[in-house]
Amino acid sequence: MNVRFLPTANLEHSGSLVVATLFESEWDPEGALPAALDAMDARLVSVLREAASQEGFEGRVDQACTFHTHGKVKADRVMLVGLGSRARFTPEVMRFAAGKVGKAALRLKVTDLGISLPDDPSMPALVRATVEGLLLGQYRFDRYRTQGMESKGSTSVDRLRLVLPPSQRKERELEEAAAYGMQVAVATNWARDLVNEPAGVITPRRLAQEAESMAKRAGLSCSIGGRKELERLKMGMFLGVAQGSAEEPQLIHIKYIPKNPKHAKRPMLALVGKAITFDSGGLSLKSAEGMVGMKTDMAGSAAVLGAMQVIAAIRPPFPVHAFMGACENMPSGTAYRPGDILVSRMGKTVEITNTDAEGRLVLGDILAWANEQRPAAMVDLATLTGACMVALGHYVVGAFGDDDALMNDVLDAAREAGEEMWRLPIHDMQKDALRSEVADMKNSGERFGGAINAAVFLREFVGTTPWVHLDIAGPSQSPRERGYHLKGATGVGVRTLVELVRKKGDRLLFHSGSQSLGEK
Ligand code: BES
Ligand code: MN
Ligand code: ZN
Repeated sequence: MNVRFLPTANLEHSGSLVVATLFESEWDPEGALPAALDAMDARLVSVLREAASQEGFEGRVDQACTFHTHGKVKADRVMLVGLGSRARFTPEVMRFAAGKVGKAALRLKVTDLGISLPDDPSMPALVRATVEGLLLGQYRFDRYRTQGMESKGSTSVDRLRLVLPPSQRKERELEEAAAYGMQVAVATNWARDLVNEPAGVITPRRLAQEAESMAKRAGLSCSIGGRKELERLKMGMFLGVAQGSAEEPQLIHIKYIPKNPKHAKRPMLALVGKAITFDSGGLSLKSAEGMVGMKTDMAGSAAVLGAMQVIAAIRPPFPVHAFMGACENMPSGTAYRPGDILVSRMGKTVEITNTDAEGRLVLGDILAWANEQRPAAMVDLATLTGACMVALGHYVVGAFGDDDALMNDVLDAAREAGEEMWRLPIHDMQKDALRSEVADMKNSGERFGGAINAAVFLREFVGTTPWVHLDIAGPSQSPRERGYHLKGATGVGVRTLVELVRKKGDRLLFHSGSQSLGEK
């Protein structure tokens, strides 16, 4: 997509669909509208004003209306989009609005589009959000639909004109922000595809292949291991989960290493993603309804892979590694059983009380393995518990971890990226829930505090390294069409991870005073 910037006066000429964004305070059908819109409405003999107010348009966030111009101005159509109250405006509001514009553009088969940007103190962030929203909004997963799809195969916007507010001059920085937004959106849509593809397509092997080809494209190094490698590494928990499936488990390790040798030795950030390509629950089988959608149990690894793709392009001055253990959780004659005792890579033993608590088993071995590379910080993303969805719903990620500095950096990054996260405690009392009579611990405890129990379990495998665990079970899927989301995979986590590396990376690895850096 080609992006250019235009001055306000050119609004009318910015595309075949021209989108004027408006705050509630700017919408006055009787009085003056923003100058460029006023001029256009004059040529349209006030049709915009009249029709929009008849439709009840007031500039609220959920409002948009589109009009045909009947050749009275250069654009074929004008769309008014509400941005709500100026006081509550953030780049995320713009990302949402741009998402809806993207959907409309697809429906109307518009390939050249202009959007007016409101005045904002952080123009680059706004440009980035607009580009991201537009591209995320145009996402479709219609590869398998053969019928009844109007938009199928229709071309998306390839020429975008961003119309700047009067006070804003076009700058180099804005162009970079647009390019960056495009990279993030492309990576997020790619991650969405990985999640939306059926589990019969994205098998552990195929996920590893996708990781490998992404790494190759992006100039990252990538190593893959199979069952033999897992045995060599004594990953007893990972092997236990994988043993019921006919698909071979895959160990995935991707490295970004800065070119500058001085930087290559600097402390490393480790990203870990849950990669269960299908979660049937194993012998503790899920219900029929509970199993629908369990192809998405690798959304954590999809987010990590998407983020790595962008990280390779932004070239931070420190290494970033990604670690994943991909397998299926299946019931079969060879499956691991409730009552089995697994020996983890770290040597800790685990009594299996529920084979559906598989994510923490695989992640435990992967976190321990990642930790052996002595990262300065670790962040994991996992569709880990239904309990986290009960606590925080569909739209908020649960964030766990004892290192306040790292936690704050992650939460800041999430806020700037427009992804909602909320810190939950890892409470020691919950440790009782995982006490076993026959092993060092059991893999599932009582129902209450289920999301915390999972985090307590994971913490046993991270040692003293600053670590944040993100439970994305809810937000990895959108239950309905909304803003720049469709029903289905959201790609949640990509934006936060990228923002963390871009803005906070150096700080979290060098200046946060994390104790573990001194020890290493
Ligand atoms: N993958 C699921 C968690 C999940 C549930 C993600 C719903 C997305 C939507 C996970 O492996 C799981 O089954 N967790 C169990 C844990 C329990 C057995 C301790 C759960 O949440 O019920
Ligand atoms: Mn499960
Ligand atoms: Zn799972």
